[in-house]
Amino acid sequence: MVQVTPFLLLLCLALVAPGLSSTKCVLTGKWINDLGSNMVIEAVNKDGSFKGTYNTSVSDSPHEIKKSPLLGYQQDTSQNDQTIFGFTVNWTFSDSITVFTGQCLVDENGKELLKTMWLLRSHVDDIQNDWKATRVGTNVFERIEDQED
Ligand code: BTN
Repeated sequence: MVQVTPFLLLLCLALVAPGLSSTKCVLTGKWINDLGSNMVIEAVNKDGSFKGTYNTSVSDSPHEIKKSPLLGYQQDTSQNDQTIFGFTVNWTFSDSITVFTGQCLVDENGKELLKTMWLLRSHVDDIQNDWKATRVGTNVFERIEDQED
């Protein structure tokens, strides 16, 4: 009969505990949102900054949609696995800019989701039109596995 000493119990807990915590969310990779827009986030730097490209599936611009650069920051992940982040997309085919902020959350099936809100600022010529220049919305992104952009 094996005797489970308190020491052995503690040792087992120490070994198993890291696996019990939620999966760490990693922003780096390819993502698709509920509108069908794609984005690629490159490696996150030590200071939390990152860059990438955004390919929107929808636009309010008369011009042809083009992949546009994004620049962002993620919060320090040493204490929290479910990363908080923000990024800006500078549309190259339009005179607008969108800022996104959100959190990478893991659902009950272990799937990473980027739950975001965005503000899209469009150009207006006159201060009288400022009231209608900013749109707001939400997007949920999921990871695209093994797909070329
Ligand atoms: C524009 O229409 O001026 C530029 C494209 C804006 C696309 C918006 S940003 C928020 C929303 N989420 C997307 O993936 N695309 C739209």
